[in-house]
Amino acid sequence: MACEWVPEAANPRKLIGTITRRSRVPALKSLLLLLSCALCAVAVAAAPTSVIDMHGRTALVTGSTSGLGEVVARRLGGMGATVIVHGLDEARGRAIAAEITSAGPGRATFEPGDLSSLEEVRKLAARVRAAHPRLHLLINNAGILAKSGEPRRESKDGHELSFAINYLSHFLLTRELLPQLEAGAPARIVNVASGAQTPMHFDDIMLERAYDSGTAYAQSKLAQVLFTVSLAQMLDPARVTVNALHPATMMNTPMVIDNGLKPRSSVEDGANAVMQLAVGSALTGRSGLFFNQMNESRANAQAYDAGARKRLWDLSVALTGKRPRQP
Ligand SMILES: NC(=O)c1ccc[n+]([C@@H]2O[C@H](COP(=O)([O-])OP(=O)(O)OC[C@H]3O[C@@H](n4cnc5c(N)ncnc54)[C@H](OP(=O)(O)O)[C@@H]3O)[C@@H](O)[C@H]2O)c1
Repeated sequence: MACEWVPEAANPRKLIGTITRRSRVPALKSLLLLLSCALCAVAVAAAPTSVIDMHGRTALVTGSTSGLGEVVARRLGGMGATVIVHGLDEARGRAIAAEITSAGPGRATFEPGDLSSLEEVRKLAARVRAAHPRLHLLINNAGILAKSGEPRRESKDGHELSFAINYLSHFLLTRELLPQLEAGAPARIVNVASGAQTPMHFDDIMLERAYDSGTAYAQSKLAQVLFTVSLAQMLDPARVTVNALHPATMMNTPMVIDNGLKPRSSVEDGANAVMQLAVGSALTGRSGLFFNQMNESRANAQAYDAGARKRLWDLSVALTGKRPRQP
């Protein structure tokens, strides 16, 4: 079976065809595809060797109350960063922040915020802006994978839930925090996407006509990559970079375990890949890229289709009620 992401060395035409045909496969098949990506994983994850100094720098990691985000937040604290832990579970978030501070040399605070509500996203951004006029690192990591067979769900704003939480909330959060990232330049944005990627169904982007959880997840994850490439073209890479990645396949996190799937890799593998984009010296000034774990790679072809990117950008601006940012 082939992965849904498109490695540079692969035959793009064959894989693009595969992606298109699989754009509405049932959830079980999509999850099997996700699982099969383990067979395609060629990179052996390792921590980046040369890293930037995070002392005195501030990082927001969405979805750091568990799984991949938690490990990344702890690592950033261990490098001396001021970390903003974010998630839904307040008790756990506060405990993780306290542990990061007590372990040092960095420190952490917790910011709650339900990403299924655009109003909550705006409030989260406002609190971050007030407490941190300069932001150096934004890791858009929070995400959901709805259980196979579950009925379609909507966000508080009436958007398909995976699209809303995995993509649209981060589109809004990033744009709300761009002034603080620019004030913190050089700054970085890391979008934690996935190898599971399905082109946008522009005729039914909220999947009202034909929903399955695997398609919803894969569409939302590719949306993050389209956003990455679009935003990179609007920003000066000497000031703010934005890159996306597939962190690792079937990590041993609640997302995988709660879906009854068998982990194929460790959360440490995924954290190494995220850390490379977040703090690796080699990524300085490099933007608009997609990484498959530790290796620079190619995402689904739609990410490099300027027309599709503009369509998603304009739609996202309309859905979040904001005017487009001019390049
Ligand atoms: N696991 C994998 O193998 C894998 C593979 C490829 C990509 N990824 C991506 O990696 C990222 C992290 O995944 P993971 O495996 O670490 O997942 P996870 O353990 O389930 O953690 C998800 C995080 O997102 C937060 N979150 C979920 N819904 C939220 C909402 N409505 N508002 C605010 N926060 C919310 C959770 O907060 P609470 O716990 O507080 O609810 C949690 O902190 C995701 O974007 C995922 O798509 C994962």
